[in-house]
Amino acid sequence: MSQDHEPEATRRESGETESSSANRAWWDRNADDYQREHGDFLGDHRFVWGPEGLDEADAGLLGPVAELRERRVLEIGAGAAQCSRWLAEQGARPVALDLSHRQLQHARRIGDQAGTVGTGSGGGAGAVALVEGDAGALPFAAGSFDLACSAYGALPFVADPVRVLREVRRVLRPHGRLVFSVTHPVRWAFPDEPGPEGLTLTASYFDRTPYVEQDESGRAVYVEHHRTMGDRVRDVVTAGFRLMDLVEPEWPAWNRQEWGGWSPLRGALIPGTAIFVCERD
Ligand SMILES: C[S@@+](CC[C@H](N)C(=O)[O-])C[C@H]1O[C@@H](n2cnc3c(N)ncnc32)[C@H](O)[C@@H]1O
Repeated sequence: MSQDHEPEATRRESGETESSSANRAWWDRNADDYQREHGDFLGDHRFVWGPEGLDEADAGLLGPVAELRERRVLEIGAGAAQCSRWLAEQGARPVALDLSHRQLQHARRIGDQAGTVGTGSGGGAGAVALVEGDAGALPFAAGSFDLACSAYGALPFVADPVRVLREVRRVLRPHGRLVFSVTHPVRWAFPDEPGPEGLTLTASYFDRTPYVEQDESGRAVYVEHHRTMGDRVRDVVTAGFRLMDLVEPEWPAWNRQEWGGWSPLRGALIPGTAIFVCERD
C-alpha cells in the first residue's frame, strides 16, 4: 500500500484488532527498509537482545549454550529470524513465528543463503522453521516447546500482553523458560530522539495511552503499547510465570551505533531495554 500522506503521530487508545492489523501492514511495508538499515547490526545469525548489542552468546539468558542442543525453541515476532538462526547453529530446533509475511520472506532469503531454512514446525537440528501467525493465537499444541524467546518481537506492539504471555505459557512444557526484551518502560517519558533533546522528560511515565501513527482518515498505521515496569512484572505473574531476572543492559563502550532513539549518549544515562527472564511452573 502506498502512503500518500505522512502519518500523524498521536497518543490514543488502540485495541487488539486495530493494533494487530496496523502492525502487520506496517511491518510488511517497512520490512525491506528495516532489514537494509539494521541487518548489518543484527547479523544474519546473531542473537542480539536490543540496540545495546547484548549478545545471547555472552549473556546466556536462555541457559548455558551447551544445553541448547536439541531444545525446541519458539521465537515470537522473529522478524528475519536472526536469533533463530543462531539458535539453530547451537543445535537447537527453533521455530520463528512472525505476523509479517515480508519479514518472513527476509528470513527465507537469508536462510536460503545460509542453507538453514525449513517449513512448518518440524525443522530438525540446524534448520529454522518459519511460521506466519499472531503471537496472540499461537498455532501450536500445548507443551510443544522447551524454551521461548523474543527480542523486541510482538510484546511492544500488542494491546493485550497477558493474552500473548498466556499463549506462550500454554505452548511451553512445565518449567519451560521464556525470555523477552522490550523497550525499557522509562523511555516512554522521554522524546524518542538519540541526541540531547532525548534527555528531557516530556511525558508522564504513568501515561499508558498507546503511541499511534494514523492516516488522514484516522486509521492506525502503526501502534506501540506502553506498560510501566510494574505492569510488565504483573503481566508476567498474571500469565502464570515466575520472574527469575530482569536485565537492564548497559551501553557498552564498543557500541557507537545509533538505532532510532537509542544512542551512546542516552545509553550512558538511562536504560533503553528491559529483558524479562521468566519460568513457568
Ligand atoms: C523489532 S522487530 C523484532 C524482530 C527481531 N528480533 C529484530 O530485532 O529485528 C518486531 C517484529 O515483531 C513482529 N510482530 C509485531 N506484532 C506481532 C504479533 N502480534 N505477533 C507476531 N509478531 C509480531 C513484527 O512483524 C516484527 O517482525
